[in-house]
Amino acid sequence: MIDGKTSERPPVWLMRQAGRYLPEYREVRARAGTFLDLCYNPDLATEVTLQPIRRFGFDAAILFSDILVIPHALGQDVTFAEGEGPRLRPVNDKEGLEALAPSFDVDRLAPVLETVRRVRTALPSETALLGFCGAPWTVASYMIAGKSTPDQAPARLLAYQDDVFFAALVDRLVDASVTYLVAQLDAGADAVQIFESFAGALPPALFDRWSLGPISRIAEGVRAARPQARILVFPRGAAQRLEMLAQSGIADVIGLDWSVDPDWAQEHVQAHVCVQGNLDPLSLVAGGSQLDAAVDRIVATFAGRPHIFNLGHGILPETPVAHVEQMLRRVRGV
Ligand code: CP3
Repeated sequence: MIDGKTSERPPVWLMRQAGRYLPEYREVRARAGTFLDLCYNPDLATEVTLQPIRRFGFDAAILFSDILVIPHALGQDVTFAEGEGPRLRPVNDKEGLEALAPSFDVDRLAPVLETVRRVRTALPSETALLGFCGAPWTVASYMIAGKSTPDQAPARLLAYQDDVFFAALVDRLVDASVTYLVAQLDAGADAVQIFESFAGALPPALFDRWSLGPISRIAEGVRAARPQARILVFPRGAAQRLEMLAQSGIADVIGLDWSVDPDWAQEHVQAHVCVQGNLDPLSLVAGGSQLDAAVDRIVATFAGRPHIFNLGHGILPETPVAHVEQMLRRVRGV
Protein backbone atom coordinates (compact mmCIF):
# COMPACT_ATOMS: atom_id res chain seq x y z
CA MET A 1 0.00 0.00 0.00
CA ILE A 2 2.62 2.52 1.07
CA ASP A 3 4.86 1.63 -1.87
CA GLY A 4 2.67 4.03 -3.78
CA LYS A 5 1.63 1.41 -6.29
CA THR A 6 -1.51 2.07 -8.24
CA SER A 7 -4.34 -0.36 -7.64
CA GLU A 8 -7.82 -0.44 -9.10
CA ARG A 9 -9.49 0.32 -5.77
CA PRO A 10 -7.58 2.47 -3.30
CA PRO A 11 -6.49 0.97 0.01
CA VAL A 12 -8.45 2.47 2.90
CA TRP A 13 -8.06 3.24 6.59
CA LEU A 14 -9.40 6.09 8.78
CA MET A 15 -7.61 8.52 11.04
CA ARG A 16 -8.68 7.84 14.66
CA GLN A 17 -10.23 4.57 13.50
CA ALA A 18 -9.84 3.12 17.01
CA GLY A 19 -12.11 5.31 19.06
CA ARG A 20 -15.34 6.21 20.72
CA TYR A 21 -17.64 5.61 17.73
CA LEU A 22 -16.99 1.86 18.31
CA PRO A 23 -18.94 0.17 21.14
CA GLU A 24 -16.10 -2.33 21.67
CA TYR A 25 -13.67 0.60 22.16
CA ARG A 26 -15.96 2.25 24.71
CA GLU A 27 -16.13 -1.04 26.60
CA VAL A 28 -12.33 -1.34 26.86
CA ARG A 29 -11.96 2.39 27.54
CA ALA A 30 -14.38 2.13 30.50
CA ARG A 31 -12.20 -0.44 32.28
CA ALA A 32 -8.79 0.96 31.31
CA GLY A 33 -8.55 3.80 33.86
CA THR A 34 -7.32 7.06 32.38
CA PHE A 35 -6.70 7.57 28.66
CA LEU A 36 -2.93 7.47 29.23
CA ASP A 37 -3.34 4.23 31.22
CA LEU A 38 -4.89 2.79 28.07
CA CYS A 39 -2.04 4.08 25.88
CA TYR A 40 0.55 2.48 28.19
CA ASN A 41 -1.22 -0.88 28.61
CA PRO A 42 0.08 -3.18 25.82
CA ASP A 43 -2.74 -5.72 26.31
CA LEU A 44 -5.51 -3.16 25.98
CA ALA A 45 -3.78 -0.88 23.47
CA THR A 46 -3.17 -3.90 21.21
CA GLU A 47 -6.81 -4.89 21.55
CA VAL A 48 -8.18 -1.46 20.59
CA THR A 49 -5.70 -1.10 17.70
CA LEU A 50 -6.99 -4.39 16.27
CA GLN A 51 -10.72 -3.73 16.83
CA PRO A 52 -11.35 -1.69 13.66
CA ILE A 53 -9.32 -4.18 11.60
CA ARG A 54 -11.45 -7.08 12.79
CA ARG A 55 -14.69 -5.22 12.22
CA PHE A 56 -13.96 -3.52 8.90
CA GLY A 57 -10.85 -5.18 7.42
CA PHE A 58 -9.08 -1.86 6.84
CA ASP A 59 -5.86 -2.04 4.82
CA ALA A 60 -3.86 -0.39 7.60
CA ALA A 61 -3.91 -0.35 11.39
CA ILE A 62 -2.65 2.70 13.25
CA LEU A 63 -0.96 2.26 16.59
CA PHE A 64 -3.24 3.28 19.45
CA SER A 65 -1.40 6.00 21.33
CA ASP A 66 -1.32 9.81 21.30
CA ILE A 67 0.94 12.57 20.05
CA LEU A 68 1.28 13.86 23.63
CA VAL A 69 3.23 10.83 24.88
CA ILE A 70 6.43 12.61 23.76
CA PRO A 71 5.95 15.60 26.11
CA HIS A 72 4.93 13.12 28.79
CA ALA A 73 8.13 11.10 28.24
CA LEU A 74 10.09 14.37 28.43
CA GLY A 75 8.74 14.82 31.94
CA GLN A 76 5.89 17.26 31.37
CA ASP A 77 2.69 16.68 33.38
CA VAL A 78 0.03 15.47 30.91
CA THR A 79 -3.50 14.40 31.79
CA PHE A 80 -6.68 13.85 29.80
CA ALA A 81 -9.67 15.13 31.74
CA GLU A 82 -12.88 13.31 30.78
CA GLY A 83 -14.68 15.28 28.06
CA GLU A 84 -12.20 18.17 28.23
CA GLY A 85 -9.27 17.02 26.14
CA PRO A 86 -5.61 17.24 27.12
CA ARG A 87 -4.24 19.27 30.05
CA LEU A 88 -0.50 19.92 30.40
CA ARG A 89 1.51 22.02 32.82
CA PRO A 90 2.58 24.77 30.39
CA VAL A 91 6.22 24.97 29.30
CA ASN A 92 6.68 28.49 27.96
CA ASP A 93 10.04 29.77 29.15
CA LYS A 94 13.68 28.76 29.62
CA GLU A 95 13.05 27.53 33.16
CA GLY A 96 10.19 25.31 31.99
CA LEU A 97 12.39 23.85 29.29
CA GLU A 98 15.22 23.21 31.75
CA ALA A 99 12.82 21.40 34.08
CA LEU A 100 12.18 18.77 31.39
CA ALA A 101 14.33 15.66 31.14
CA PRO A 102 17.78 16.60 29.76
CA SER A 103 17.40 14.07 26.97
CA PHE A 104 14.60 11.95 25.54
CA ASP A 105 14.60 8.43 26.98
CA VAL A 106 12.72 6.20 24.55
CA ASP A 107 12.52 3.48 27.23
CA ARG A 108 9.87 5.58 28.91
CA LEU A 109 7.69 4.62 25.96
CA ALA A 110 8.60 0.92 26.15
CA PRO A 111 4.92 -0.10 26.64
CA VAL A 112 3.99 1.67 23.40
CA LEU A 113 6.79 -0.11 21.53
CA GLU A 114 5.62 -3.40 23.04
CA THR A 115 2.16 -2.65 21.62
CA VAL A 116 3.72 -2.14 18.18
CA ARG A 117 5.42 -5.56 18.40
CA ARG A 118 2.24 -7.31 19.52
CA VAL A 119 0.04 -5.65 16.90
CA ARG A 120 2.48 -6.49 14.09
CA THR A 121 2.49 -10.15 15.20
CA ALA A 122 -1.30 -10.29 15.40
CA LEU A 123 -2.08 -8.48 12.13
CA PRO A 124 -2.60 -10.26 8.81
CA SER A 125 0.56 -9.88 6.70
CA GLU A 126 -1.29 -7.83 4.07
CA THR A 127 -2.38 -5.22 6.63
CA ALA A 128 0.10 -2.37 7.09
CA LEU A 129 0.89 -1.10 10.57
CA LEU A 130 1.39 2.64 10.93
CA GLY A 131 3.28 4.26 13.75
CA PHE A 132 3.08 8.02 14.28
CA CYS A 133 4.11 11.14 16.11
CA GLY A 134 2.97 14.75 16.14
CA ALA A 135 4.97 17.34 14.22
CA PRO A 136 6.98 19.68 16.48
CA TRP A 137 4.79 22.75 15.89
CA THR A 138 1.57 20.87 16.75
CA VAL A 139 3.08 19.23 19.84
CA ALA A 140 4.73 22.51 20.92
CA SER A 141 1.37 24.28 20.70
CA TYR A 142 0.02 21.90 23.39
CA MET A 143 3.19 22.08 25.48
CA ILE A 144 3.10 25.89 25.52
CA ALA A 145 -0.62 26.51 26.07
CA GLY A 146 -1.25 23.39 28.15
CA LYS A 147 -4.48 22.64 26.29
CA SER A 148 -6.25 22.96 22.94
CA THR A 149 -6.49 26.62 21.93
CA PRO A 150 -8.26 28.49 19.11
CA ASP A 151 -5.72 29.14 16.34
CA GLN A 152 -2.90 28.06 18.67
CA ALA A 153 -2.53 31.72 19.66
CA PRO A 154 -0.29 31.29 22.75
CA ALA A 155 2.28 29.23 20.81
CA ARG A 156 2.16 31.48 17.77
CA LEU A 157 2.64 34.58 19.89
CA LEU A 158 5.64 33.01 21.58
CA ALA A 159 7.09 32.03 18.19
CA TYR A 160 7.19 35.76 17.35
CA GLN A 161 8.36 36.88 20.80
CA ASP A 162 11.03 34.37 21.74
CA ASP A 163 12.81 32.81 18.83
CA VAL A 164 15.53 31.32 21.03
CA PHE A 165 13.07 29.50 23.29
CA PHE A 166 11.02 28.28 20.35
CA ALA A 167 14.03 26.94 18.48
CA ALA A 168 15.25 25.12 21.59
CA LEU A 169 11.84 23.50 22.16
CA VAL A 170 11.50 22.48 18.51
CA ASP A 171 15.04 21.03 18.49
CA ARG A 172 14.15 18.86 21.49
CA LEU A 173 11.01 17.65 19.72
CA VAL A 174 12.82 16.92 16.44
CA ASP A 175 15.41 14.78 18.25
CA ALA A 176 12.79 12.94 20.31
CA SER A 177 10.59 12.33 17.27
CA VAL A 178 13.42 10.82 15.22
CA THR A 179 14.37 8.45 18.04
CA TYR A 180 10.75 7.52 18.70
CA LEU A 181 9.83 6.91 15.04
CA VAL A 182 12.96 4.81 14.43
CA ALA A 183 12.06 2.75 17.53
CA GLN A 184 8.51 2.23 16.17
CA LEU A 185 9.90 1.08 12.81
CA ASP A 186 12.29 -1.30 14.56
CA ALA A 187 9.41 -2.69 16.64
CA GLY A 188 7.46 -3.56 13.49
CA ALA A 189 5.72 -0.45 12.11
CA ASP A 190 5.66 -0.58 8.29
CA ALA A 191 5.47 3.20 7.93
CA VAL A 192 5.06 6.26 10.13
CA GLN A 193 2.72 9.25 9.89
CA ILE A 194 3.63 12.72 11.13
CA PHE A 195 0.50 14.63 12.25
CA GLU A 196 0.79 18.38 11.67
CA SER A 197 -2.78 19.07 12.75
CA PHE A 198 -2.23 22.82 13.04
CA ALA A 199 -0.28 23.59 9.86
CA GLY A 200 -3.10 25.99 8.98
CA ALA A 201 -2.41 28.16 12.02
CA LEU A 202 1.01 29.28 10.76
CA PRO A 203 1.36 32.36 8.55
CA PRO A 204 3.84 32.14 5.65
CA ALA A 205 6.68 33.72 7.60
CA LEU A 206 6.48 31.02 10.26
CA PHE A 207 5.41 28.02 8.18
CA ASP A 208 8.76 27.12 6.62
CA ARG A 209 10.66 27.63 9.83
CA TRP A 210 8.37 25.88 12.32
CA SER A 211 6.45 23.36 10.25
CA LEU A 212 8.18 22.37 7.01
CA GLY A 213 11.72 22.69 8.40
CA PRO A 214 11.25 20.53 11.50
CA ILE A 215 9.21 17.91 9.58
CA SER A 216 11.93 17.68 6.96
CA ARG A 217 14.60 17.31 9.68
CA ILE A 218 12.59 14.47 11.22
CA ALA A 219 12.23 12.76 7.82
CA GLU A 220 15.96 13.15 7.13
CA GLY A 221 16.88 11.82 10.55
CA VAL A 222 14.61 8.80 10.21
CA ARG A 223 15.85 8.02 6.69
CA ALA A 224 19.49 8.44 7.73
CA ALA A 225 18.91 5.72 10.33
CA ARG A 226 16.47 3.54 8.33
CA PRO A 227 16.83 4.31 4.59
CA GLN A 228 13.80 2.19 3.65
CA ALA A 229 11.45 4.10 5.97
CA ARG A 230 8.13 5.23 4.49
CA ILE A 231 6.85 8.53 5.82
CA LEU A 232 3.32 9.95 5.58
CA VAL A 233 2.76 13.61 6.42
CA PHE A 234 -0.66 15.08 7.30
CA PRO A 235 -0.39 18.89 7.28
CA ARG A 236 -3.94 19.97 8.07
CA GLY A 237 -4.72 23.42 6.69
CA ALA A 238 -1.50 23.69 4.64
CA ALA A 239 -3.69 24.62 1.63
CA GLN A 240 -1.68 25.67 -1.45
CA ARG A 241 1.56 25.01 0.46
CA LEU A 242 0.84 21.31 -0.16
CA GLU A 243 2.36 21.73 -3.61
CA MET A 244 5.72 22.81 -2.22
CA LEU A 245 5.66 19.90 0.23
CA ALA A 246 4.80 17.48 -2.58
CA GLN A 247 7.75 18.70 -4.66
CA SER A 248 10.17 18.63 -1.73
CA GLY A 249 10.47 14.84 -1.50
CA ILE A 250 10.01 14.98 2.28
CA ALA A 251 6.92 12.74 2.29
CA ASP A 252 6.17 9.42 0.58
CA VAL A 253 2.49 10.14 1.12
CA ILE A 254 0.73 13.47 1.76
CA GLY A 255 -2.51 13.45 3.73
CA LEU A 256 -5.07 15.93 2.41
CA ASP A 257 -7.51 17.52 4.83
CA TRP A 258 -11.20 17.76 3.92
CA SER A 259 -10.97 21.39 2.77
CA VAL A 260 -8.69 20.51 -0.17
CA ASP A 261 -10.34 20.33 -3.60
CA PRO A 262 -9.57 16.89 -5.10
CA ASP A 263 -9.29 18.35 -8.61
CA TRP A 264 -6.69 20.85 -7.47
CA ALA A 265 -4.83 18.22 -5.44
CA GLN A 266 -4.78 15.76 -8.31
CA GLU A 267 -2.95 18.31 -10.45
CA HIS A 268 -0.71 19.97 -7.86
CA VAL A 269 -0.02 17.27 -5.26
CA GLN A 270 -0.77 13.81 -6.66
CA ALA A 271 1.27 14.64 -9.78
CA HIS A 272 4.34 14.44 -7.50
CA VAL A 273 3.47 12.03 -4.70
CA CYS A 274 0.91 9.52 -3.38
CA VAL A 275 -2.02 11.28 -1.70
CA GLN A 276 -4.23 10.18 1.19
CA GLY A 277 -7.70 11.42 2.00
CA ASN A 278 -9.92 13.33 2.09
CA LEU A 279 -13.57 12.71 2.94
CA ASP A 280 -15.13 15.23 5.33
CA PRO A 281 -15.74 13.45 8.68
CA LEU A 282 -19.13 15.19 8.87
CA SER A 283 -20.14 13.72 5.50
CA LEU A 284 -19.54 10.34 7.13
CA VAL A 285 -21.67 11.32 10.11
CA ALA A 286 -24.50 12.46 7.82
CA GLY A 287 -24.54 9.36 5.57
CA GLY A 288 -27.16 8.90 2.84
CA SER A 289 -26.73 9.60 -0.85
CA GLN A 290 -24.43 12.60 -0.31
CA LEU A 291 -21.91 10.20 1.28
CA ASP A 292 -21.93 7.95 -1.79
CA ALA A 293 -21.46 10.98 -4.04
CA ALA A 294 -18.61 12.35 -1.92
CA VAL A 295 -16.82 8.97 -1.90
CA ASP A 296 -17.30 8.58 -5.67
CA ARG A 297 -15.86 12.01 -6.36
CA ILE A 298 -12.71 11.34 -4.34
CA VAL A 299 -12.17 7.84 -5.74
CA ALA A 300 -12.76 8.94 -9.34
CA THR A 301 -10.59 12.05 -9.14
CA PHE A 302 -7.59 10.23 -7.68
CA ALA A 303 -7.97 7.03 -9.76
CA GLY A 304 -5.06 5.99 -11.94
CA ARG A 305 -2.33 7.33 -9.65
CA PRO A 306 -1.35 6.34 -6.11
CA HIS A 307 -4.10 7.19 -3.61
CA ILE A 308 -5.00 5.92 -0.14
CA PHE A 309 -8.62 6.56 0.79
CA ASN A 310 -9.08 8.18 4.21
CA LEU A 311 -10.93 10.95 5.97
CA GLY A 312 -9.72 14.53 5.81
CA HIS A 313 -9.37 14.52 9.64
CA GLY A 314 -10.17 12.09 12.48
CA ILE A 315 -13.44 10.18 12.64
CA LEU A 316 -15.95 11.79 15.02
CA PRO A 317 -17.33 9.94 18.07
CA GLU A 318 -20.93 10.39 16.86
CA THR A 319 -20.27 8.56 13.54
CA PRO A 320 -22.73 5.67 12.99
CA VAL A 321 -20.92 2.37 12.38
CA ALA A 322 -23.40 1.67 9.54
CA HIS A 323 -22.09 4.74 7.70
CA VAL A 324 -18.53 3.42 7.88
CA GLU A 325 -19.81 0.16 6.36
CA GLN A 326 -21.62 2.08 3.63
CA MET A 327 -18.47 4.08 2.87
CA LEU A 328 -16.35 0.93 2.65
CA ARG A 329 -18.77 -0.78 0.24
CA ARG A 330 -18.63 2.30 -1.94
CA VAL A 331 -14.81 2.61 -1.87
CA ARG A 332 -14.42 -1.10 -2.58
CA GLY A 333 -17.05 -1.09 -5.30
CA VAL A 334 -19.07 -3.96 -3.81
O1 CP3 B 1 -5.90 7.22 14.76
C1 CP3 B 1 -5.96 6.36 15.66
O2 CP3 B 1 -6.93 5.58 15.81
C2 CP3 B 1 -4.77 6.20 16.59
C3 CP3 B 1 -4.81 6.89 17.83
C4 CP3 B 1 -4.66 8.39 17.93
C5 CP3 B 1 -5.24 9.11 19.01
N1 CP3 B 1 -4.80 10.39 18.95
C6 CP3 B 1 -6.11 8.51 20.03
C7 CP3 B 1 -6.94 9.40 20.86
C8 CP3 B 1 -3.93 9.31 17.17
C9 CP3 B 1 -3.17 9.08 15.88
C10 CP3 B 1 -4.02 10.57 17.84
C11 CP3 B 1 -3.32 11.78 17.38
C12 CP3 B 1 -3.61 13.06 18.00
N2 CP3 B 1 -3.81 13.33 19.34
C13 CP3 B 1 -3.63 14.30 17.32
C14 CP3 B 1 -3.33 14.49 15.86
C15 CP3 B 1 -4.49 14.12 14.99
C16 CP3 B 1 -5.63 15.09 15.01
O3 CP3 B 1 -6.73 14.67 15.41
O4 CP3 B 1 -5.45 16.25 14.60
C17 CP3 B 1 -3.90 15.31 18.26
C18 CP3 B 1 -4.04 16.79 17.98
C19 CP3 B 1 -4.01 14.68 19.54
C20 CP3 B 1 -4.23 15.32 20.87
C21 CP3 B 1 -5.48 14.85 21.50
N3 CP3 B 1 -5.67 13.57 22.01
C22 CP3 B 1 -6.68 15.57 21.71
C23 CP3 B 1 -6.91 17.01 21.29
C24 CP3 B 1 -7.57 14.71 22.35
C25 CP3 B 1 -8.95 15.03 22.87
C26 CP3 B 1 -9.95 15.10 21.77
C27 CP3 B 1 -11.03 14.09 21.95
O5 CP3 B 1 -11.49 13.57 20.90
O6 CP3 B 1 -11.41 13.81 23.09
C28 CP3 B 1 -6.94 13.45 22.49
C29 CP3 B 1 -7.52 12.24 23.10
C30 CP3 B 1 -7.59 11.04 22.24
N4 CP3 B 1 -6.55 10.56 21.48
C31 CP3 B 1 -8.71 10.15 22.12
C32 CP3 B 1 -8.30 9.11 21.27
C33 CP3 B 1 -9.10 7.90 20.88
C34 CP3 B 1 -10.05 10.29 22.85
C35 CP3 B 1 -9.90 10.08 24.32
C36 CP3 B 1 -10.68 8.91 24.90
O7 CP3 B 1 -10.99 7.92 24.22
O8 CP3 B 1 -10.96 9.00 26.10
